[in-house]
Amino acid sequence: MASTAYTRPSKPPGPVGDRRQPRLAKELGRIEPKKLGIGLVAGCCLALLTYISFARLFAIYSPVFESTSLVMKNAPPASMTVPGTDAVPVQQKIEVDDEKDLAKEPEQVEPKEPGFPEETKTEDKEEEPFQKDEKEEEAVVAAKPDGGETPTPEAKMTCDENAVDEGFPYARPSVCELTGDVRISPTEKTMYLVNPSSAGPFDENGEKKIRPYARKDTFLLPGVVEVTIKSVPSGAAAPECGRRHSVPAVVFSTAGYTDNFFHDNTDVLIPLFLSASHHAGEVQLLITNYKPWWVNKFAPLLKKLSNYEVINFDKEEAVHCFPGGQLGLYRDRDLIIGPHPTRNPRNLTMVDYNRFLRRAYGLPRDVPAVLGEKTGTRPKMLMIERKGTRKLLNLHAVRELCEQLGFDVTVAEAGAGDVRGFAGKVNAADVLLAVHGAGMTNQIFLPTGGVLVQIVPWGKMDWMATNFYGQPARDMQLRYVEYYVSEEETTLKDKYPRDHYVFKDPMAIHAQGWPGIAEIIMKQDVVVNMTRFKPFLLQALDQLQD
Ligand SMILES: *[C@@H]1O[C@H](CO)[C@@H](O)[C@H](O)[C@H]1NC(C)=O
Ligand SMILES: *[C@@H]1O[C@H](CO)[C@@H](O)[C@H](O)[C@H]1NC(C)=O
Repeated sequence: MASTAYTRPSKPPGPVGDRRQPRLAKELGRIEPKKLGIGLVAGCCLALLTYISFARLFAIYSPVFESTSLVMKNAPPASMTVPGTDAVPVQQKIEVDDEKDLAKEPEQVEPKEPGFPEETKTEDKEEEPFQKDEKEEEAVVAAKPDGGETPTPEAKMTCDENAVDEGFPYARPSVCELTGDVRISPTEKTMYLVNPSSAGPFDENGEKKIRPYARKDTFLLPGVVEVTIKSVPSGAAAPECGRRHSVPAVVFSTAGYTDNFFHDNTDVLIPLFLSASHHAGEVQLLITNYKPWWVNKFAPLLKKLSNYEVINFDKEEAVHCFPGGQLGLYRDRDLIIGPHPTRNPRNLTMVDYNRFLRRAYGLPRDVPAVLGEKTGTRPKMLMIERKGTRKLLNLHAVRELCEQLGFDVTVAEAGAGDVRGFAGKVNAADVLLAVHGAGMTNQIFLPTGGVLVQIVPWGKMDWMATNFYGQPARDMQLRYVEYYVSEEETTLKDKYPRDHYVFKDPMAIHAQGWPGIAEIIMKQDVVVNMTRFKPFLLQALDQLQD
């Protein structure tokens, strides 16, 4: 919890104009190396320390503080935005919520149809369910060595389990890929692999167990349904197929921090895109810790990824057979898809994900507006308003300034469950402006080349600002402007004297671990100084014209 390594004092944030944060050495290649000065090298050690200890902190708690009161919550959300009681540490809450939800879930679950009304055309693609008798079963198995008409591919399993991303311990969840005769028995929470050679990374019982939530987080994983892959020597040793599929299966969980839009994306949707989009819809999704409202909420994306109705792994009774499958999902850092030879062999990027989202939601704009006298087009800005914590108290004045500078401004609150509606508003904008928070995740809907403006509250929030939103913006080929508020621009100045460590040594807040961050940093509001802020808006304008 408290990040003990993280006690070193540091410089308070300097003047914003000439601010350029030291970054981790390994990140350097990705951030315009030419522009980085020598000072960077000096800052490196401190940055590394900060980096690792933050990562430890976030390996335990969600990086998106709004979600903490919702951890492990399975109930349908009131909305995507979160009430003001957001920053409560959740250590104790988990058992309670978990228990409650386990009891409650079955009644809430809609029987079978997770609300895919239009999705009937693909139904007939699925093979008819049928009951096979023993002889047919043997015939299929026997056909294999003779190279029958539909030979089962040779059994094989590979797992990616021990990979490490130093700064982001949660970014390398376990994944196993299987080919061959794969039989999934949801009631037993087991995937059988008919594997005559018994080769593969199995334990002494011929098993491999994984909790398939795409965030390797020791705090969360106990709440994720554990699925067993079992190696069996022959088809006779596996359950009979109730239903055969000609496409591979992907089994994953929607437990954990889902319902927070940041985590919906980082922990499920982006991993799913990374793991399954290459099947071009010819893949069967099976979801554990199944949340019907979640499946409904993201139905347009799930339908784009799979031509078949999602199977509720928690309730399904039939044994489903596949020519292959995957347990767990690959992922990378937050809102980032980096290159990797085995976890991302198709070289997908966040730009691909953005395009996928636009297609799924029917968002029209791939690039921002062309500005200029000729077109007479004004740049459109969407300001995300927060109503709980980290409010922009002088939002109206900021809006006026933006309009004076030529922006056509819309103000909206992220959330309200209507993903497509809000996605449309973001996609219509050229510039997205917001105070640090989960709503900034909506940058995924901006046209490529658009601008993200992040207002970063007081308290040495560089790591969070950069890793949760700034670096992802670059990864999405957005332009990125960050504005760090000064101590004059935070409501913390009404709570703490100026000689308090909150101002003199903000790193001391982080040294307290979660409680300090939640109680002090996350609960401030900001009042932006227009004189100071204006150049950043001009910068956003400039970048649109580049
Ligand atoms: C992905 O990138 C690597 C390295 O640049 C390249 O060798 C490989 O062919 C690429 N794969 C695909 C599917 O484009
Ligand atoms: C706003 O910022 C300007 C430029 O940094 C500074 O001169 C001015 O004193 C600030 N105003 C307030 C009210 O702090």
